[in-house]
This record gives sequence, structure tokens and C-alpha cells, in this order.
Amino acid sequence: MAMIAKQCPEIPVHVVDLNQARIDSWNSDNLPVYEPGLDAVVREARGRNLTFSTRVNDAIRDSNMIFIAVNTPTKTFGIGAGRAANLEFIEKCARQIAEVSEGHKIVVEKSTLPVRTAEAVKRILQSSSRGCSFDVLSNPEFLAEGTAIEDLLSPDRVLIGGESSAAVQRLADVYGRWIPRERILTTNLWSSELSKLTANAFLAQRVSSINAISALCEATGADVDEVARAIGTDSRIGPKFLRASVGFGGSCFQKDILNLVYLCEHFGLRDVAKYWEQVVVMNDYQKRRFSERIVKTMFNTVSDKKIAIWGFAFKKDTNDTRESPAIHVCRDLLNERAKLCIFDPRVPESQVRSELISAFADASGDVSLKDRSLVETNVTVARDSYSAAERAHAIAVLTEWDEFKQLDVQRIYDTMMQPAFVFDGRNILNRNRLTEIGFEVHSIGKH
Ligand code: UDX
Repeated sequence: MAMIAKQCPEIPVHVVDLNQARIDSWNSDNLPVYEPGLDAVVREARGRNLTFSTRVNDAIRDSNMIFIAVNTPTKTFGIGAGRAANLEFIEKCARQIAEVSEGHKIVVEKSTLPVRTAEAVKRILQSSSRGCSFDVLSNPEFLAEGTAIEDLLSPDRVLIGGESSAAVQRLADVYGRWIPRERILTTNLWSSELSKLTANAFLAQRVSSINAISALCEATGADVDEVARAIGTDSRIGPKFLRASVGFGGSCFQKDILNLVYLCEHFGLRDVAKYWEQVVVMNDYQKRRFSERIVKTMFNTVSDKKIAIWGFAFKKDTNDTRESPAIHVCRDLLNERAKLCIFDPRVPESQVRSELISAFADASGDVSLKDRSLVETNVTVARDSYSAAERAHAIAVLTEWDEFKQLDVQRIYDTMMQPAFVFDGRNILNRNRLTEIGFEVHSIGKH
């Protein structure tokens, strides 16, 4: 919304949320998300044609077009728990829009949704007794965190699905102010909803595919980076999204694949469901394999050993830790009674601790006192990479922050316990240099 406001100064954009603290933060110099370049975009438009407030009803009444961008987390209860998307928030939005709207509104689904959600949204809107009319569009968002501003300024494509060509055209006109027309694709509603899930499923599948091959590389002496380069030069495969890693994370991939799996099951397509589910199974395997490798390599015990964890965010250039592979690896190591010293340039201590405590929750969301105190006693959060590694037996790199590549590794080696192990879960460190100094280096997909 900030980008639309920036690019279209004559369109007033009201961002509303029920959460006052979050709105206050959007109105301050301390935005609630870290995203390179976002501050400047918000600063340019805020107060001009971009406002943030909790006045939801006023904003609904004043607008011609309403974007629903609430979250659709995986359901944790009832039918479809652990797989289906929780549509509670979408439905509440639709009901509120129906209740207070006047005249004609275009309602745009920005949240990622299961196919045919627009049908439910339409029915709820039509139940409005106020004599107003609605068009429902699907306009999924393809930006990636860390590169959001670039992705919004120059997207590969914008996708708009809808039944009313006039409504589709109005939204296309907004994006058309800065995006070439040939990159604005229009489809029917269901194709648009499904394309978002499919794009994420394909992207995640590529990561799981190269990660599956990384296990074979470790077993055979092949090098996964060399294999990725070799296959990536085939123009049909392409070089992007082939970086073997400790596993994918983030708020989208796992959630959207599970959602896709649930949809396939719902429509009786059991084999299709199983096929896509394997992408998540492989990702879980990759995260588990990484922590097991640490334990096995360190003489089958990490109990009471200090391990430096470099990076906690699910990827670089973000402070987002949702589904970060670091959470799973740290939980496994804590279960082995390791002492973890965690450093991430953007993730604050409180967030690290609450993610780790949640990682020990049972099916009903409860965390035992024992696990809580394990996190309290065995986890410290460091202020930089050097102090995290001091007197550590090992370093595990879990996020590919650029700053980890520029450290004085000799200085680090001199302060560590011997043998000094490095487990590079992102293949970003200079292996030869580390080995020369005396580190024992274990990378993903390398012997
Ligand atoms: C993703 C999609 O890219 C985006 O289009 C969609 O709108 C939202 O979901 P995001 O989750 O922000 O974006 O990050 P992305 O760059 O896709 O990375 C996802 C995860 O995969 C990260 O944990 C990343 O480290 C991992 N990854 C990515 C790899 O392990 N290897 C790769 O080659 C690429």
C-alpha cells in the first residue's frame, strides 16, 4: 500500500488495522518490519496521501477499493488442523465491509487464500442489506522479503483475477502508473487464487529438490554448488533458487504448500496431495539432518558445549523469524542439552526467546516448565558474531547475512575451543580460508 501511495500521489491510501500498537509504530520512525528501503517509501507518502489508523469503518466508507490483507495462518484446531488455512480473519473483514459499506465497492483479496475463497467473500458481501454492490478481485502478492521494494517497483508480473472486466481494469490502471502493461496479467478469479499457491509451491519445490541432492552430494563426494551451477546453465532450468541450505523458512512456503495439499485432498486428489506434501517432508528432513550432523560430528555429544548460532532470521535482510529453520535446529540442539549463544544482526533477544519457547509447545500449545527453563538457562543472545563464538566448540551459520562473510576469522579461531567446528548451513563462508586456519568445516552438500 505504501508503494501504491508513493507511485500514485493523487490516490489517497488509508491503511487500517485493529492493533493500535502496530498502527502507532507505522506512524513513528520505528516501523514494525525491517525491510531495506521501506522507510524512505513510507516517509515520502505518509502524511501526503498515505495514512495509518485504527478507524476501520471510516476507511471502508471512504474508499472505492478495499484491499483485504489480513493473515491466513495454518489452522491449529478443528477440521483441517495443521494444513488448511484459517479464514476467520478474512470472513470477519468481509462481514465488516458488508455492514458499513455504501454504494459500490471493489474488494480485492491481497491475502493468500485457498482456491474459491472469493466465492465465500462474495456471498458474505451480498448478504449486506444496505443496498450496496460489490466486485471481488484476486490480486496476490509475489514480493519476497528483503527485496520487497525492488520487487514492488519492478515486478516480474502483477496478477489480477476477476469476473468484472471493468473492476479488473480499474485495478490494472492503478498498477499501470508504473508497471508496463504487458506485465499486468489478468485471469479468472480461480486461476489467480491458485497461481499464488502454485508459484510458492514451485519455488519451495526447487529448494527441496536441490536440498535432496545435497544429501546425495555429502554421501558421494559431489559438490552441490557445482551441481547447481552445472544444471542452472540449462536455460530450461535456470540458475535462480538453487541454493542448497539448512532448509527453507518464512511465513509462506510451508503454509501455502500445506494449504495446497489440503485442497487436493478436499477434491479427492490424493496422489497430487502426496506429491506436494513431499516438499515439506524433505524440508523437515533437511533441518533435522543438519542438527544431527552437528551432534554426530562433535563426537556424538553436544551436551554442555557452547555452540555459536550465527543468524536467526529465515533469510538475510529481514527481521522475520516465522518458520525460520534456525528455530528447528536450535530446538534439536537444546534437546541435546547444548548451550547456545545466538547472534542475529536484526532479531532482538525477546523475539529469539519467544520463538524458541514456542518451538517446545505441545499439540495444545502448552510448554512444560522443564522446556521453558531449558531455553532460559541454555540460551544466551550475543551482541555480535565475535562474542557469540568466544570459547565456543562450534559455529553454526543459519542465515546468510553478508556481514558473516567479512569477519576476522583468525581472531575468531583464536578464541574458540579446539577442535573448532564450523557448520555452514548457507554455504557462504570461505571454506578454504577457514580450513587453512585450522577450522573443521562442514558445509551443505559438500563431502
Ligand atoms: C516467498 C516467495 O519468493 C514470494 O514470491 C512470495 O510472495 C512469498 O514467499 P519469501 O518467503 O519472502 O518469499 O522469501 P524467499 O526468498 O522466497 O525465500 C524463502 C526461503 O527459502 C528462505 O528461507 C530462503 O533462505 C530459502 N531459500 C531460497 C533457499 O534455501 N535456497 C534458495 O535458493 C532460495
